[in-house]
Amino acid sequence: MNKKMKILIIVGLIITTAVLLMIWFYRTQTVWIKSEPYERNSNIPAKTLVVVYSRTGNTLSAAKEVAKYYDADLLKIEAPQYDRNMSGQRLAAEHADKEVTTTPIQHDPIDLRKYDLIFLCSPTWWYRPAIPLWSFVENHDFAHKQVFLIMTGNSKKTDEKTDKFKVLVEQKNGNFINVLFARRGRVHWQKSPKKLNKEIIDALKKQTDIIFQSSN
Ligand SMILES: Cc1cc2nc3c(=O)[nH]c(=O)nc-3n(C[C@H](O)[C@H](O)[C@H](O)COP(=O)(O)O)c2cc1C
Repeated sequence: MNKKMKILIIVGLIITTAVLLMIWFYRTQTVWIKSEPYERNSNIPAKTLVVVYSRTGNTLSAAKEVAKYYDADLLKIEAPQYDRNMSGQRLAAEHADKEVTTTPIQHDPIDLRKYDLIFLCSPTWWYRPAIPLWSFVENHDFAHKQVFLIMTGNSKKTDEKTDKFKVLVEQKNGNFINVLFARRGRVHWQKSPKKLNKEIIDALKKQTDIIFQSSN
């Protein structure tokens, strides 16, 4: 094989790998991850509420496990402007980068006064919770509520950006307990939802003291 041929093969392999990685990345950001429907087992009114926004299903799957564990009501937020296509992805990236907090959101009517403890579950967008969660907090009063933030992500969150979310919860009269960041993994080595959900429940179990201490 001559030198030119070798170079062509190497370049071809690099391009093929890059294209495959791009397709895989596109899938991870646009394909919906299914999870079982959630229904509460008990009839007594729930004192815990799990609020979730999820663009591709990972955070919703985790939120359902959290709701099951705490026998909580589950409230899903929708924000069609950040749909699972390239324009939704672009808008999500642009708004997150500009640290937008206000965006139209849709969800079933909810009366927060019924609850003591509220889990807010969100994907991480540019190192902070996704915009629909900020809007949910802006739109509600969290007086006498303990608030726990759960974020899923592929790489990391930063305290600098996420602390502003804590400030917003406090401005809306909530008692912010803690934040749990659950790392799903990079593009090519994502954890299964089952593994991620177990990690989240295990991490929450370790925080039972602070969670229940503050909600009782
Ligand atoms: C616009 C955008 C920005 C993102 N930025 C981050 C980030 O800063 N840190 C991180 O860990 N993951 C980031 N991700 C990845 C998502 O947080 C991750 O895939 C999340 O688990 C998806 O949750 P979902 O399936 O519930 O939407 C970003 C995703 C999008 C769409």
